[in-house]
Amino acid sequence: MKTLIKNGTVVNATGTASADVLIDGDTIAAVLAPGSTLLGFDIERNVDTVIDATGKYVIPGGIDAHTHMEMPFGGTQASDTFETGTRAAAWGGTTSIVDFVVQYPEEQVLDRYHAWQEKAAGNCAIDYGFHQILSDVQDASLTAMDELIDEGVTSFKLFMAYKGVFLSDDGQILRAFQKGADNGAMMMMHAENGAIIDVLVKQALEAGNTSPYYHGLTRPWQAEEEATHRAIMIADLTGAPLYVVHVSAKQAVEQIAAARDRGLNVFGETCPQYLYLSLEDQLGAPGFEGAKWVCSTPLRSKHEGHQHHMWQSLRTNDIQMVSTDHCPFCMKDQKEMGVGDFSKIPNGIGSVEHRMDLMYQGVVTGQITLPRWVELTSTTPARMFGMYGKKGVIQPGADGDIVVYDPNGHTSIGLGTDPSGAPTGRTHHMNMDYSAWEGYEIDGHVDTVLSRGKVIVDESGYIGTKGDGRYIKRGLSQYLI
Ligand code: URP
Ligand code: ZN
Ligand code: ZN
Ligand code: ZN
Repeated sequence: MKTLIKNGTVVNATGTASADVLIDGDTIAAVLAPGSTLLGFDIERNVDTVIDATGKYVIPGGIDAHTHMEMPFGGTQASDTFETGTRAAAWGGTTSIVDFVVQYPEEQVLDRYHAWQEKAAGNCAIDYGFHQILSDVQDASLTAMDELIDEGVTSFKLFMAYKGVFLSDDGQILRAFQKGADNGAMMMMHAENGAIIDVLVKQALEAGNTSPYYHGLTRPWQAEEEATHRAIMIADLTGAPLYVVHVSAKQAVEQIAAARDRGLNVFGETCPQYLYLSLEDQLGAPGFEGAKWVCSTPLRSKHEGHQHHMWQSLRTNDIQMVSTDHCPFCMKDQKEMGVGDFSKIPNGIGSVEHRMDLMYQGVVTGQITLPRWVELTSTTPARMFGMYGKKGVIQPGADGDIVVYDPNGHTSIGLGTDPSGAPTGRTHHMNMDYSAWEGYEIDGHVDTVLSRGKVIVDESGYIGTKGDGRYIKRGLSQYLI
C-alpha cells in the first residue's frame, strides 16, 4: 500500500517546507519537492491513495507521553479504556501515547507491567508505550527497573504526595534515582509535598470547607516549588536525569530553569489545563461543578501569573513538552464520590483528544511558532522518551504517523452549536459524561490521521480498527545534555 500526501506544508520541529510525502507500507519512503518524479515515474499514478493537502499542514502525529487509561484510583478507575481513550486520541491527531503502569504498595512491579500489557494488547487504535510507576521502592523494584528497560520501559515515575497510596520518602527516591543514574532510565516525579497537603486538607475539612475549590487551596504552589526543588537536589546528588510531570506553578518552572542553567538533565512537562484554566474560573465554579477540574497538581490562581509564565517557558524551552495527564472520570458516580468532601473526588482531567487543537491555539495567538507546536507535542516527546527517528518527525525511514491539519478548519470542543448558538450535542469521543473544555472553539481542524501508513481518521471520522496500535519498545532518552 502506497500513499502520497501532496501539495501540503510539511512541518517538522526544524522548520517548514512545501513538500510531498510518500509512504510505502507503514514507513515514510520519501519527502519530495512538490510534483517530483522518481526516476521518471509519475509517483501519483503509481500509488494506491493520494491525499491532497493543499493549504494544509502535514505534521508528525502527536505523541501524548502522559496518559492513564483505565487507571485504578481512589476506589474507581479512569473512565477511558485503552480502546476508547486511544480512539479519542486518534480523532484529535495523536498517534502514540505513553501510559503509566501502576504499582501500588506491596504489588510486584513486573506483575503489574504484564497486566498492563494484557489490558492494552489488541485494544488500541494507535501505538502505545509504557512508563512504570513505583510506589514502594522495594529491592525487587530496583531489580525490575533493569528488566523493564530491556522491555522498552525506560522511564519511572515516583510520587512525593499521596501517602499510603503512591508516596515514596526521600530515601526511597534516592535509591530509585541511584538506579536510574546507573541504568540510564529517565526518572519522573510527581512533585508536591504530600505531608503539607495532607495537613492542609484535614484542616480545611475540619473547618467545613468541603467544596472542590479547596482542592486547589490545599495544594499551594509552595508545596509544588518545594518538592520540585527537592527532586532536583536528589537528581543532582545521584546524577539521574529528572523529568517533572504536570508542572503548574511558575515557581516550579523557575526551579527547573535554574537547574537547567546549571547544566543538569532536568526537564519539565506542562499540560493544556495549566495553560488555559484557573482556580477561580473552573475549580471555583458554583456548587459541585468545580469537581470537573479536580486534578493534581491543581489549577492555579489566575491572579498570580502562572499561565503567562508557562506560555513563556514553552517559548524559551524552560519547559520542553506538553502532555495531557489524561485521567478522565465521569461526574456521575465517579467525581460525585467527593460530594461533601473534596478529598474524595478522583483526581484527573480528560484531554487526550484535544491537546493538538488546544496547543495549535498557541500558534494562532502568536505565543508559539508552527515548528515549536510540533516540537512540544511530538518531536520532543519522541526524543525525551527514546522513540525519535521512528516517531516525532517526517523523514524517510520514520513511521507513517502523520496528521493533515487544516488551519482554516474549525473545531468545537465539548458541545457543538448550531447557527443560533443552541447546543447540538456532544462532539468529543472520550468516555466522559462532560467535557473539561466545554465551549472551547478552535481555529484549526484535524482532517486526516495516518497511523503507520494506514488512514485511521478522515473527514468521515474514525475509520481504523481496534487493535491497529502496536506496543512501542522504547530506547533510552535521546534528549540528555
Ligand atoms: O490528577 C491527576 N494528575 N491524576 C492522575 C495521576 C497523576 O498524578 O498523574
Ligand atoms: Zn502525578
Ligand atoms: Zn498523571
Ligand atoms: Zn476539516
